[in-house]
Amino acid sequence: MKAIRMHEFGGPEVLRYEEVPVPAPAPGEVLVRVKAVGLNPPDWYVREGMPGIPPEFRPPFDLPLIPGTDVSGVVEAVADDVQDFAAGDEVMGLVRFPGAMQSGAYAQYVTAPVTDLAPKPSTIDHTHAAALPMSGLTAWQYLVEVGHDHPSPFQEARHRPMPLGGDTTVLINGAGGGVGHLALQLAKWKGARVIAVASGAHEEFLRGLGADEYIDYTKQRPEDIVRDVDLVLDTVGGPASRRFLPTLRRGGALYPVYFGEFDDEENAKLGVTVTGTQVRANGAQLAELGSLLDAGAIRVAIDSTFALADAPAAHKRAAEGHIQGKIVLTVP
Ligand SMILES: NC(=O)c1ccc[n+]([C@@H]2O[C@H](COP(=O)([O-])OP(=O)(O)OC[C@H]3O[C@@H](n4cnc5c(N)ncnc54)[C@H](OP(=O)(O)O)[C@@H]3O)[C@@H](O)[C@H]2O)c1
Repeated sequence: MKAIRMHEFGGPEVLRYEEVPVPAPAPGEVLVRVKAVGLNPPDWYVREGMPGIPPEFRPPFDLPLIPGTDVSGVVEAVADDVQDFAAGDEVMGLVRFPGAMQSGAYAQYVTAPVTDLAPKPSTIDHTHAAALPMSGLTAWQYLVEVGHDHPSPFQEARHRPMPLGGDTTVLINGAGGGVGHLALQLAKWKGARVIAVASGAHEEFLRGLGADEYIDYTKQRPEDIVRDVDLVLDTVGGPASRRFLPTLRRGGALYPVYFGEFDDEENAKLGVTVTGTQVRANGAQLAELGSLLDAGAIRVAIDSTFALADAPAAHKRAAEGHIQGKIVLTVP
C-alpha cells in the first residue's frame, strides 16, 4: 500500500510517500481501507520529534513511523474475535490515542481496535467524518463527559466538566479551529450562551455556528472586556492561558486544552477551578457525536483538503495558522 512515512524528525519535507506492507489486524482489531485522514496538532508535534513537550511527558516513539490518528473509511477485514464490525461497514475513529504515536493513519490501510471506532454518520462524506474524531472527542471530553479515569499527564487534579445550560456563559478561545468550532456547537447544544474569540476572518463562520457574541482578538483583548463568565475553554492554552482568570466569576472554571502554568494559590484566592485532560480514543462517545451530526445539531467544517501524497503541503498549510475547521487528506 501507499503511506506517508517519516524516517527522521523535521519539517514537512520528512513526510515521504512510500510503498509499505499492509498491516494485519491483531485480536480485537479491524483493518480499515482509509478514505480520508483528519489532521491534528499531534501530527506536527510528532513530525518535529515533540520539541515543545517536556521530555518526561513525551511518549516513546521509534522511526520510521507512519503518522496520523483520525480516519474515516471502510472495514476491509476483521480479526477472528471481532463481532461489532464486519467487512464493508463504514467507520470513523481516533486510532490508538494516546499511545506510542504509531497510529499509522496516513496510509491506504490502517488497523484499529474496535473500541476506537464508531459507525460513520450516514449524512456526511468520509472527508467530513475523518475531520471529527480527535477534535470532537476533545470538545466532548472537556465539556460533556470525560469518559475515562486516566489522570492527565500534565496535572494531578481530575477534570470534571461543569454542567452547562441556559444560565451558563462559556467563552471559547480559538473558536475557529478544530476543537474550538466543535466545542462552540456542543456548548450551544447544551443551551449555553457562547462568546467566541478568534481572529477577524472567522466572524461570519462562528456566528453561523451559533456564537452569541464574537471578539476579534486582533482588535480587543478578551481579558480586558469580559467579566463573570462561568467557563473559559481555551483551545490555544499554554503559558498565556492564565490571562483568562479575571474573566471568570467566583466558582467558575478555566479549561486550557494545551497545558500551561498555573498557581494553585492564585486559583484558590479567585475561587476558580483550572483543569484539563488528555483526549482518549472512545468509539462510544464518537458514536454519540456522529448521532448529533446526523441529527443536524452540530456540523464539522473543512478548512482544506489535500491528497495523501501531498501531506507535506497539508502540513505547510497547518503551519500558516488561522485554520477554520479541519484540514483533511483524501486517500486514493
Ligand atoms: N488536551 C488534549 O488532549 C488536546 C486535544 C486536542 C488538541 N489539543 C491542543 O489544543 C490546541 C488546539 O487544537 P486544534 O486542533 O483546535 O488546533 P487548530 O485547528 O489549529 O485551531 C487553533 C485555533 O486557534 C486560533 N488562534 C491562534 N492564536 C490565537 C490567539 N492568540 N487567540 C485566539 N485564537 C487563536 C487559530 O485561528 P485564528 O488565529 O485565525 O483565530 C485556530 O483557529 C493545540 O495546541 C492542540 O495541541 C489538546
